[in-house]
Amino acid sequence: MKIKLKIDVFPDLFSDINSYPLYNLLLIMRIKQFRYSQNNLGYLVYSPQTAVAVDGGAVDDIITFADRNSLKIKYIANTHNHYDHMEGTESLLKKTGAEYLSNLKLRKEQSLTVDDEVIKIYHTPGHTMDSIVFHHENFLISGDTLFNGTIGNCYSGDMESYFKSLKFILTLPPGTIIYPGHDLIKYSMGIAANMDPDNERIELFLKNYDPNHIFSSLKDELRINPFIRFNDPHLIEMLKDRDLPAATEFERWKSLMTMH
Ligand SMILES: [Fe+2]
Repeated sequence: MKIKLKIDVFPDLFSDINSYPLYNLLLIMRIKQFRYSQNNLGYLVYSPQTAVAVDGGAVDDIITFADRNSLKIKYIANTHNHYDHMEGTESLLKKTGAEYLSNLKLRKEQSLTVDDEVIKIYHTPGHTMDSIVFHHENFLISGDTLFNGTIGNCYSGDMESYFKSLKFILTLPPGTIIYPGHDLIKYSMGIAANMDPDNERIELFLKNYDPNHIFSSLKDELRINPFIRFNDPHLIEMLKDRDLPAATEFERWKSLMTMH
């Protein structure tokens, strides 16, 4: 009989950022992060037997991990169609015999089932029009839609859609762990400190930086990421000081994006 452990209280990662690896062990579905290329991040989301690879550029590391943990990689998917996220897909498909799930298919089905566990798929256009995010219980694989401390470029040119996508992500529980498509923490905290110089949380977040585990919580993001804090009084004040449009939240977000 399978016993499912439900945890309703999320750890406050800002005060104890190292608690998450232990917390991850308590879940039925786990997530493992893989670094590749310059600062890309890919993931295996796995139940005790079955895994799905998302942005599987770290082909050899992913296969080694799956073998060591007796995991069958059943599906391979991507957060969006940029080359650096897709580059491992073909090789991983050949080596594992897994099924490829296109973004279009995932968007239509809005979920992906691994054993009995459901990973929700949300369409988050903006960085690219095909961007999707993968949400399961307490974590979100956010691709290049949301990083830790910054967000992606709006390559689609559709600012309105990107803003809506971010607003949607902000409706998720504050304890949601953000697993991004790149490690941009040091770079993003430099920009954030420039935009919000009195924010002590930025230095605190940077102090906990661990290149072997790149993540934040949504709660962290609301404290340190200037590109989602379009309703923060300090940032509104900063925009007004610079004579940038700040009347509505969309205007403020667009003004913040000029500093991206
Ligand atoms: Fe991208």
